[in-house]
Amino acid sequence: MHVVRLAHETDFDGWRQAARGLRARKVPPEAALWTVDGEATLFGNAAEPVQPTDIRADFRVPKAFVDLAARVILHRSNERFTLLYRLLWRLHDERDLMHIASDPDVARANHFAKEVSRAAHKMKAFVRFRLAADEGGEAYVAWFEPAHRVAEATAPFFARRYANMRFSILTPDACVHWDMVELSFTAGADPADAPSEDALEDYWRTYYASIFNPARLKVGAMQMEMPKRYWRNLPEAALIPELIAQAQGRTDTMVRQAPTEPNRRVVKTAVRNSRDAPWDGQAPTSLAEVAAGVDHCRRCDFWRDATQGVPGEGPPGARLLFVGEQPGDQEDLAGKPFIGPAGQVFDRALAEAGVPRTETYVTNAVKHFKHELRGKRRIHKTPDAGEVAACRWWLDAERRIVRPRVVVALGATAGLAVFGKPTPIGKLRGQALQLSDQAQGVVTYHPSYLLRLPDAAAKAEAYAMFVEDLRYAWALAA
Ligand code: URA
Repeated sequence: MHVVRLAHETDFDGWRQAARGLRARKVPPEAALWTVDGEATLFGNAAEPVQPTDIRADFRVPKAFVDLAARVILHRSNERFTLLYRLLWRLHDERDLMHIASDPDVARANHFAKEVSRAAHKMKAFVRFRLAADEGGEAYVAWFEPAHRVAEATAPFFARRYANMRFSILTPDACVHWDMVELSFTAGADPADAPSEDALEDYWRTYYASIFNPARLKVGAMQMEMPKRYWRNLPEAALIPELIAQAQGRTDTMVRQAPTEPNRRVVKTAVRNSRDAPWDGQAPTSLAEVAAGVDHCRRCDFWRDATQGVPGEGPPGARLLFVGEQPGDQEDLAGKPFIGPAGQVFDRALAEAGVPRTETYVTNAVKHFKHELRGKRRIHKTPDAGEVAACRWWLDAERRIVRPRVVVALGATAGLAVFGKPTPIGKLRGQALQLSDQAQGVVTYHPSYLLRLPDAAAKAEAYAMFVEDLRYAWALAA
């Protein structure tokens, strides 16, 4: 019996290297025993060293198999290493094996991979952070028990999604840490390491109750989507039995009351008042709450077609806060503001003006991408005044939390959001305008406007004024 000892449960590189070595030496699957470091075996603990020289250079496996194996290895089944090695063994003589979906080994591996993908999806949907402070300041902690070992695989998603928030996700298998610069991993944790009570729980409960539509209740589907095993860690889960119990009555009331057309005057007033209206009863108090809230915001309809809400980016306490119009195509996909073509112009101008972007807070008047489809292309559409007003709740929250000295409106839509009325840029640029929260306001061109100017001389002139305005705003904020 050839014993292979892997460094840990998800040691894909170790498995790969050992598997290739065993295959090269023609060790059949039934003669290989796979263990993980620390596991005692009937055959003792002496794992066989696999030398790179054992690997035959001409042995190639299809990429589809490597991709599949990388997922299967995250499955909790003890059978996974052997199953994968059996597939690898067979691939030598059955080159098309991976295309035979009915083959029991292929079917089993595909099934495992599917379960792993599902576990990753659930983890992305159901991780809930709680606020915790440590000597480094504000940090967020989540406890989660994924069905399979997907903590490390999903970590880049959380780092992208919550780039501006220090967090740890603790799981029994591995813990993920993000310090706003890089990801790191430590050994699995005990549930006791996760703080259990905090304000975010109420926030989530309120949110969940607000999106719960009794008329669409399907208990079976809901439990499949949010299996009971996850309820334990979800603050909103406490509401589920009550909401289910009330559902029929609430549906009957909705049906009895159902007006088909919204009253235009009521809608207009609601939009006008939306900046002061509490969002689900609670104003966000941290940028992480803003980020979570923006992504789930239903204040207007843009969320339906957007990939995600795009919150602002930058440190709380930034002296300068920039407001753009709305995320564009690339920002919508990445979940970050000003990273596409307009973002590149913006970055270049900031550099020329001597303004370090990382010390500023960059956001948009509207947090979801408004667009229309033309063929496969998503074409930007300018948000109207009502939509800007509806989204101002989030901009106001960001301003309250960041407390900048100077707010710079980039373009007319941002001007409307920041000053509450149209701001002619040519007339008002380059001056400090008093805002109601003690900050000073500055209005300048939007970087996309500079990109669109057809005349090279006009473009260069407007760009120079833009750089000048950025320099002015930075000095004003000093
Ligand atoms: N234009 C904007 O106004 N904001 C972005 O984030 C990107 C493009």
